[in-house]
Amino acid sequence: MIGLRRIGPDEFTLRLDAVLHVYTEAMNPPADQIAGRRLIMGNHATHPAFTCLFAERADGTPVGIAYGFHGVPGQWWHDVVRRALVEKHGEGSARGWLGDALELAEIHVHPDYQGKGIGRAMIAGICAGRLERTAVLSTRDRPTAARHLYRSIGFVDLLTQFVFPGGHERYAILGTVLPLDG
Ligand SMILES: CC(C)(COP(=O)(O)OP(=O)(O)OC[C@H]1O[C@@H](n2cnc3c(N)ncnc32)[C@H](O)[C@@H]1OP(=O)(O)O)[C@@H](O)C(=O)NCCC(=O)NCCS
Repeated sequence: MIGLRRIGPDEFTLRLDAVLHVYTEAMNPPADQIAGRRLIMGNHATHPAFTCLFAERADGTPVGIAYGFHGVPGQWWHDVVRRALVEKHGEGSARGWLGDALELAEIHVHPDYQGKGIGRAMIAGICAGRLERTAVLSTRDRPTAARHLYRSIGFVDLLTQFVFPGGHERYAILGTVLPLDG
């Protein structure tokens, strides 16, 4: 039996090992990137209106994690994506999508628990009750389960084949208007 539980920034910071475990199992990142990811996640917990859900087994072990926060200028992802949106679609579009946005930073489900509705339930739970106008995120621009899931929830492509500075993978930047349908 899996339950969803809201986690505040303090508990999130204390449970970073468990968060990283789910992340590592789900994403299988190169080992030399994990320490950097840990620092980035720890910093995310300090962002405004941080919200997180753990999907937990009955014994309290997290098997899914999802979190986001209010995007503001000065945050790396926000600034990079804003610049790219201005370039591609103009200032009005960038302001419309990012001016009052919940930025969904991470959503991962342990492979043993994927395909059971946990990812969909966590996104709905993270977005529920948020006061922002939009929700935005980035995901690899490939035919993944994540891409399928986001599209089915109502996210649309804002940018495709986007390469973050210093990276090489191609990403899609997606957005939807809040509240989510249904
Ligand atoms: C993306 C992810 C969070 C979705 O979580 P989940 O609990 O597996 O998703 P759900 O069970 O809620 O399923 C959502 C949809 O994705 C589909 N899906 C799930 N796993 C799939 C897979 N391996 N291949 C294709 N579709 C898949 C489901 O069929 C479902 O679609 P449907 O409702 O139309 O049938 C999870 O697959 C994951 O952690 N993936 C690896 C890490 C990742 O890519 N994270 C997102 C980074 S942006």
